[in-house]
Amino acid sequence: MSGLFITFEGPEGAGKSTNLQLFAAALRESGCDPLLTREPGGTPIAEKIREVLLSHHDEPMCSDAELLLMFAARAQHIDRLIRPALDRGQVVISDRFTDATYAYQGGGRGIAVQRIAALEEWVQGPLRPDLTVVFDVPVAVGMQRARARSELDRFEVEQTAFFEAVRQTYLERASADPGRYRIIDASGTLDQVAQAMRPLVAQVLEQWHA
Ligand SMILES: Nc1ncnc2c1ncn2[C@@H]1O[C@H](COP(=O)(O)OP(=O)(O)O)[C@@H](O)[C@H]1O
Ligand SMILES: [Mg+2]
Repeated sequence: MSGLFITFEGPEGAGKSTNLQLFAAALRESGCDPLLTREPGGTPIAEKIREVLLSHHDEPMCSDAELLLMFAARAQHIDRLIRPALDRGQVVISDRFTDATYAYQGGGRGIAVQRIAALEEWVQGPLRPDLTVVFDVPVAVGMQRARARSELDRFEVEQTAFFEAVRQTYLERASADPGRYRIIDASGTLDQVAQAMRPLVAQVLEQWHA
């Protein structure tokens, strides 16, 4: 038995977390009870690694340490939470996953794609999301929403050029594999975004029953 693995991606302020809750509520109305999780994090140990990754430090974190910590957290997350849930046949929805590593550590920090791909193979084996929803917003819109929400973490304080590279990487990855990715225009009102998500709710329910 194998469940369905869905990931929500996009920059800070795109609306991933808000829409994840709405999406899950829509699935529950049809009797599907998804497991909701997030990266970095998702288990007690992985959440401790998240704290190291997102908090501010006096010492700058080198890009390779950042990349390896992301995958260390991911290894724990997959082993303890994602794989067991998929094996039980559950729908798993993760707020960010490996596409975020390609976008932030690859596009943003400039780490070579092959290095990330090698770690992806190592840590995940054949595990890839069945569906990845990319919430796309102009950088300025996302940054403004993130600023209005709360204090900025270690990634959110990056400059516009960093987030432009993040956005481009997400869009390039999505257009290279239209079977797996859906790009959602997240610049409109929450109602408009929820409307755009509706066909995906139907698609997931259909795949889940299959
Ligand atoms: N479509 C939208 N229009 C206006 N505000 C939004 C929209 N989507 C989300 N927000 C608000 O922007 C902030 C960031 O949303 P959030 O879901 O936390 O984004 P993310 O998880 O992608 O960082 C929140 O305060 C949220 O209420
Ligand atoms: Mg969020």
